[in-house]
Amino acid sequence: MSEDRYLTFALGKGRLANKTLELFEKIGITCEEMKDKNSRKLIFVNEDLKLKFFLSKGPDVPTYVEYGAADIGVVGRDTVLEENRNVYEVLDLGFGKCRMCVCGPESAKDLLLHHERIRVASKYPNIAKDYFYNKKHQTVDIIKLNGSVELGPLVELSDVIVDIVETGSTLRENGLEVLEEVCPLSARMIVNPVSMQMERKRIQNLVAQIRNKLEKSAG
Ligand code: PRP
Repeated sequence: MSEDRYLTFALGKGRLANKTLELFEKIGITCEEMKDKNSRKLIFVNEDLKLKFFLSKGPDVPTYVEYGAADIGVVGRDTVLEENRNVYEVLDLGFGKCRMCVCGPESAKDLLLHHERIRVASKYPNIAKDYFYNKKHQTVDIIKLNGSVELGPLVELSDVIVDIVETGSTLRENGLEVLEEVCPLSARMIVNPVSMQMERKRIQNLVAQIRNKLEKSAG
């Protein structure tokens, strides 16, 4: 495919985007424009390499990639699983490591053990549903929240939560604990299926360079 076409990247705003840009710099992909903190620009371009970058809310990244508005996205595995979009997951970037867990007060252990019909609060209703219905075969009521999910059991909205645990300090400070692990998480690179066909060489080359860098820094 022509080298004249821009490859567009959608990056989930925040820590993951910063880590991604650091990693890209290591393989010579830079975007000076993006470093200007005063800029109000939404789309950043590297004319030499024919690359474009934009930042979006994490859960929107798979949407941009599925529709082909971005060829490539970088976002947490939590978002990839929750959004369940038609995209290819091509690479585990290894950073942003944490776990999706069922958490609650110690007293909730029995409710899980006996497959009680419990209330589960989560920012990730699809992940929670898949875990309880398909993996555990337990019927539960899922309540969607948008953040500070740990409040659920504290104010008796729910028995447990399904949420991200990184250091575990939010749980500890609120008298909650990990009851079950749903899955490990980390940052993932996702690709639009049509882009994967049309730009196969460029994308494979990029993935190979990143993989190489990751392996070197791990070993
Ligand atoms: C995430 C997650 C937990 C917390 C876990 O929340 O939902 O609340 O981080 O991290 P820890 O194990 O290191 O304490 P985030 O800060 O993204 O905000 P939110 O609660 O508004 O989703």
